[in-house]
Amino acid sequence: MKIMPNRMDRGFFKYQEEFEQKALEVLRSGWYVLGKEVSSFEEEFAAYTGGNYCVGLASGLDALWIAFRLLGIGKGDEVIVQGNTYIASVMGITINGAVPVFVEPDQYYGIDADQIEAKITQKTKAVLVTHLYGTASSMDKIIALCGKYGLKLVEDCAQSHGACYDGQMTGTFGDVGCFSFYPSKNLGAFGDAGAVIVKEKKLAEEFRMFRNYGSEKRYYNKVVGANSRLDELQAGMLRVRLKHLDALTKEKAEIADRYTREIHNPMILLPGVPKRSTCVWHQYVIRCEERERLIAYLNEREIGTIIHYPIPPHLAEAYQYLGYGEGFLPKTEHFARTVLSIPMYNGMTREEQDYVIEALNQFK
Ligand SMILES: Cc1ncc(COP(=O)(O)O)c(C=O)c1O
Repeated sequence: MKIMPNRMDRGFFKYQEEFEQKALEVLRSGWYVLGKEVSSFEEEFAAYTGGNYCVGLASGLDALWIAFRLLGIGKGDEVIVQGNTYIASVMGITINGAVPVFVEPDQYYGIDADQIEAKITQKTKAVLVTHLYGTASSMDKIIALCGKYGLKLVEDCAQSHGACYDGQMTGTFGDVGCFSFYPSKNLGAFGDAGAVIVKEKKLAEEFRMFRNYGSEKRYYNKVVGANSRLDELQAGMLRVRLKHLDALTKEKAEIADRYTREIHNPMILLPGVPKRSTCVWHQYVIRCEERERLIAYLNEREIGTIIHYPIPPHLAEAYQYLGYGEGFLPKTEHFARTVLSIPMYNGMTREEQDYVIEALNQFK
């Protein structure tokens, strides 16, 4: 049985009619950028998260860098971020000329809140929390520290649509919650798309202006902005998917529960979730000290896997200029050497799940 790490087509076919109907509706409307689909999606997504305002953007990376830009974070400022995040989180900081200050993760792959305070300097302006793999990070200590030192709090929720900490949804804790709707995400579009959830009305208005060449009124440009608009077609698709997001998350959670209950192998470490958090299982990430051998073994059985992520940002070629070498973040680097995302997607059959479980249990 051939099993791919992800099957985005299954997510499409599950609601094929609704997607196709909405696509035709948008195509026939004659209005394709920043229209009623976008504003309806923004309202619906803000309501879903419990956040105040949503502004649709072109991607998750745009959400991040524009967030730091509008929060006034730039050249020479420091932003505290976990070492084990996807590189886009770090690019959101450095595009603005700010400096990422790396902190090791905790056992749940979230930023280790106990290590943040020691990294705060006069130059620190913000903390960026990535709710990695779909698990909501523990927020209370981080919120307290941001309050104590007057720091901005930005959340990278590219992988955590719907995940909660203490019953509150990720993306609503900080000044800005940054979302990606890249097709493989839990709330995925059929192309690139993103959004922010914003607490303050004034900041939300600044996002609306910035995404459209810094313009509120046609051909009147207040600031130098970007073209980072969410288009009508993607917004329409996202509205369809959002209606089903809780059901899609539940389906993934059931697969994750099965994996957690039924994978028994001393060579494989399964993921955990902090007590006060929920996980929406963007990925099911195991760890194995003999990962390369496990990948080859699974490949032989036609089970595909992905490593999220093999090279931590501080060791990426793009960030050589920061001057960090191997050994700088031992825990982050150990995770990068041992993590492995196993197949888990909406529409995964019970037989496919059985096959993955059995293969993992038989690995010696
Ligand atoms: C944690 C994280 N941050 C940011 C991004 C960037 O999002 P996008 O690909 O929409 O720019 C992604 C996804 O690619 C991500 O997984």
